[in-house]
Amino acid sequence: MSPLRSGTRKALISLEDVTKTFATRDGGELPVLEGISLQVTPGEIVALLGKSGSGKSTLLRCIAGLVFPSTGTVRYKGQPLRGINPGVSLVFQSFALLPWLTVQQNVELGLEAKGIAQDERARRAVEAIDLIGLDGFESAFPKELSGGMRQRVGFARALVVEPDVLLMDEPFSALDVLTAENLRTEILELWSTGGFPADAILIVTHNIEEAVMFADRVIVLGTNPGRIKRELTVSLERPRGRKSPEFEALVDEIYGLMTERPQPGEALAGEGDEEAVGDADAGIAGGRVQVMLPHASVDGIAGLAELSAVAEADSDLGDLAAVVGFEIDDLFPLVDALVLLGFANVERGRLVLTETGRAFARADIQDSKAIFREAALERVPLVRRVHRALQHAADGALREGFFLDLLNRHYSPDEARAQLDTAIDWGRYAELFEYDAARGEIRLPEAAEVA
Ligand SMILES: Nc1ncnc2c1ncn2[C@@H]1O[C@H](COP(=O)(O)OP(=O)(O)OP(=O)(O)O)[C@@H](O)[C@H]1O
Ligand SMILES: [Mg+2]
Repeated sequence: MSPLRSGTRKALISLEDVTKTFATRDGGELPVLEGISLQVTPGEIVALLGKSGSGKSTLLRCIAGLVFPSTGTVRYKGQPLRGINPGVSLVFQSFALLPWLTVQQNVELGLEAKGIAQDERARRAVEAIDLIGLDGFESAFPKELSGGMRQRVGFARALVVEPDVLLMDEPFSALDVLTAENLRTEILELWSTGGFPADAILIVTHNIEEAVMFADRVIVLGTNPGRIKRELTVSLERPRGRKSPEFEALVDEIYGLMTERPQPGEALAGEGDEEAVGDADAGIAGGRVQVMLPHASVDGIAGLAELSAVAEADSDLGDLAAVVGFEIDDLFPLVDALVLLGFANVERGRLVLTETGRAFARADIQDSKAIFREAALERVPLVRRVHRALQHAADGALREGFFLDLLNRHYSPDEARAQLDTAIDWGRYAELFEYDAARGEIRLPEAAEVA
């Protein structure tokens, strides 16, 4: 029997070549997941790690049966899923409690849906409440609870049904740092001591350390569309110390993975073909797969370049993050921007400035604008396309709605707006174009002077 088939037999959850494409409002298509195959087997914790927008929540919803894949199959214990997955329960980032019900009633909800009798519901809810450290709060209402306690109710409600697989979507990210750390530790202790009411855990996160802390396997998703970049096994003993060299090495390795540029031919089909100016759509938005602009301001980009230029050696991204008091993940958009602009490369968790990057960091304001302009025109398709469209426009000006319409065909409305805002920020700094917010208009600087 092939490994795949024996795996399929044992797996609680298995996905085969799942894709998901959403229709955009104006008839375009937004590919969100592509070619996802994975399994979750009893006794393991799997972390799905990816940046914002990589499709993590969509993937989790496919597994829960709340969303259907466009193609491919999701199986629960070998059977293709045809509705809600009976073997999973979900903990969300926000607590999703019913405010008019007590803690006890909120926890009982999951059992009610399964048609379990009242007295058994009550007994099992009390057990789950005890297990998760909520005893004494049975008759409290959600509004009386802190964020951490509310999330405990979320956990109790998910665990009371004793699911095969507990699915968690960034369950700690709405909590303050200490509360999150405390709850993580408790959940992991419960898991390790064998009293855990689920056979497997699948946790979605954008936090690398959280993934390494929890998982036996980390599945790294690339962005746009989300596909599996790499799967790493974490064999560190539990409890895991964040400061151990092995832990840090893994975090660095994954950080490097998540920040490296795709290789030629991988994922960036749109990059080479944007010269088709005749087709306005291709001219603005490129091919099916976009070079997505990281949500980074020019100030942030310049700040990070300067920081790493003054650092003695190539900068460890973890150290850089610590210096500026950020989480390592907060640096992603800035690092991505530096790499996209050709100002830096990432090599195994280190940010290495290129010649141009060093020049950019050291230059005075006029020179750094010139360096940025050249890099943006050469390497950032959206900036180049907006600039070119303005050059072709009769009076050097176009309404932003024109660009938004085209971007909307490839991105969700929020993301289209974010893409255009970023391009405007970069293009303005580079003095390639001006933006008149009141008129909702983008123009060439010369056109702005005339106006
Ligand atoms: N129902 C929907 N209709 C259209 N587009 C959607 C829908 N749900 C998600 N998307 C889009 O799919 C992409 C991936 O979204 P998803 O929420 O799965 O990402 P994520 O990795 O969970 O991001 P985050 O880290 O921000 O939670 C986004 O561009 C989002 O706008
Ligand atoms: Mg999400």
